[in-house]
This record gives sequence, C-alpha cells and structure tokens, in this order.
Amino acid sequence: MAKLGMITGAANGIGYEISKLLLLDSYQLILVDKDPEKLQEVKTEFSKLSEFENRILVKDLNLPNAAHEIFQELSDLDLSLDVLVNNAGFGVFGTFSNTNWKDERDMIHLHVLSATHLCKLFLPQMIKCGKGKILNVASIAAFQPGPLMSVYYATKAYLVSFSIALANELKGTGVSVTVLCPGITKTKFQQTNCKIGTRRNWNITSSSSVAKYAIKAMNKNKVLAIPGLINRFLANFHRFIPVRTAASIVRKLQERNRKID
Ligand SMILES: NC(=O)c1ccc[n+]([C@@H]2O[C@H](COP(=O)([O-])OP(=O)(O)OC[C@H]3O[C@@H](n4cnc5c(N)ncnc54)[C@H](OP(=O)(O)O)[C@@H]3O)[C@@H](O)[C@H]2O)c1
Repeated sequence: MAKLGMITGAANGIGYEISKLLLLDSYQLILVDKDPEKLQEVKTEFSKLSEFENRILVKDLNLPNAAHEIFQELSDLDLSLDVLVNNAGFGVFGTFSNTNWKDERDMIHLHVLSATHLCKLFLPQMIKCGKGKILNVASIAAFQPGPLMSVYYATKAYLVSFSIALANELKGTGVSVTVLCPGITKTKFQQTNCKIGTRRNWNITSSSSVAKYAIKAMNKNKVLAIPGLINRFLANFHRFIPVRTAASIVRKLQERNRKID
C-alpha cells in the first residue's frame, strides 16, 4: 500500500512543490486548499505523474470545524496519514491599529488553531502505528517580533515553539516533527499579502528549492529546518542584540522592502 501524505495549501507555492516531491517519492496524496479550481488543476497534473488516485479536499481552514471535518472524512474512508504537512498560510501587512481584525483572526485560526488541531487529531493514529511525520511550515519571522506584520510573526513563533516541544514529547514513538522556517520565497504570498516591492532582490529563494530542503529535513527527522545560510544567520541574529533593537531592525527592513499604502 502506498504511503499517504496530506498537505494543506497544496494548490500553490511551497505547498504545491512539497506535494509534487512527495508524489515523486511514491506517496498517495490528500491535497487540501480553499481554491477548488486550482486544486483540480493540480490533481489533473499529478494524475499524469503518478499511478495513484490523489484526492482533493476543498476546505477553508479558517473555519472552526474544518480540521475536524477533514479528520472525519479520512476516518470514514479508513485512511490514516504517514505525513501531515501544515503549510497553508498567509500574511497581513500594516500597523496593527489599522489592519483588518477579520484577516488577523483568520490568520490566527489558520496558523495556530487549525495546524494544532490537525496535529491533535492525526497524532494518535501515527503513535499507534509507531510511525509518521509532521511538517509544520513556520518562517524565519518566528525568531523576533515583527512590527508591521505583528500578528503574522507571533503566529509563526507559536508554530516553532509548539513544534519543537511536540518533537521532544514524541521521542521514541517513531513519529517526528519538523518545523520549516523559510526566508523570503518567491510565491504569490509576497504579492498578495505582504506587498513586497521591487526593492528587495537579494536572498529570495524559489519555492521548489525550499520544498526540496523541507523534504530532506523531514526525512532526516530534523526538528528545526531553516533553508539557506543567510536565513540561518538571520534566525540567530536576535540572540546577540536586545529584543527591542531586533524589532526596530525588522521594522526598518519592512519599510524599505515593502510598499506602504
Ligand atoms: N513565501 C514566503 O516568502 C514565505 C516565507 C516564510 C514562510 N512562508 C509560509 O509558507 C507557507 C506557504 O506560503 P506560500 O508562500 O507558498 O503562499 P501561497 O503561494 O500563497 O500558497 C498558500 C496556499 O495556502 C492556501 N490557503 C490560504 N488560506 C487557506 C485556508 N484558510 N484554507 C485552506 N487553504 C488556504 C492558499 O489558497 P488561496 O490561493 O486560495 O489563498 C494557497 O493555495 C505559509 O504558511 C507561509 O506563511 C512563506
């Protein structure tokens, strides 16, 4: 029987590339996203590359019941996961006093509640089977406060803290947890959510190379996975300066790199 992997946010960007690599590694896939047309396109593309029937689940993971519905649908089909990738995410840019609460509430729901809930629901099966892998997609934003994207940075910090603690608890169970912390990656995330301007043209990685790094790290049971030397430096830089200085530096970089309405 084929190994089964589920990826959220599989229709685009990093999630799409991770899905493709799992597919080429002979996984059968459950592709979750809220974009039905793009999901169907990906399914059609993948059907040409794999002998397995991959399933698509159109779900908006901002909704409170989404994680439970996914778990129920897979349980009804008697399917248990070998790999769970919590990748779906988006950003909100602007000063907190001016940003839209619904967007930020949705983001907290997606990055924090849905990702945690999916781990909660699928972990017991994995532990029972004595094998399984969870890949949570955070960001190098996790390592310091992020003025102008304050809630985004905070949700990613949560994901890193939660994942490292979970990995520790799961030692000896056969189940691993990897938390991926990419730096700026060329996807529609940057244009749609973060309003990145054309000024920043260094240290931007492709989604395919981030995905390759992620899969390698996950297969090695690496806990903290930061692709790229500069990103590893940036993720550790905050250790050597006061946290308020780190926040000021982030703010300056955000202002320089992004268009502000
Ligand atoms: N790109 C970067 O620079 C960067 C850097 C560090 C970390 N990350 C993280 O990497 C992950 C993937 O981002 P990406 O750059 O690949 O972005 P992307 O190209 O925008 O892809 C994200 C995918 O997630 C889907 N999605 C968003 N909200 C969802 C929801 N509520 N329910 C189900 N699916 C949802 C999106 O669907 P729609 O298209 O319909 O919105 C999209 O297909 C995110 O967690 C992001 O925070 C990205």
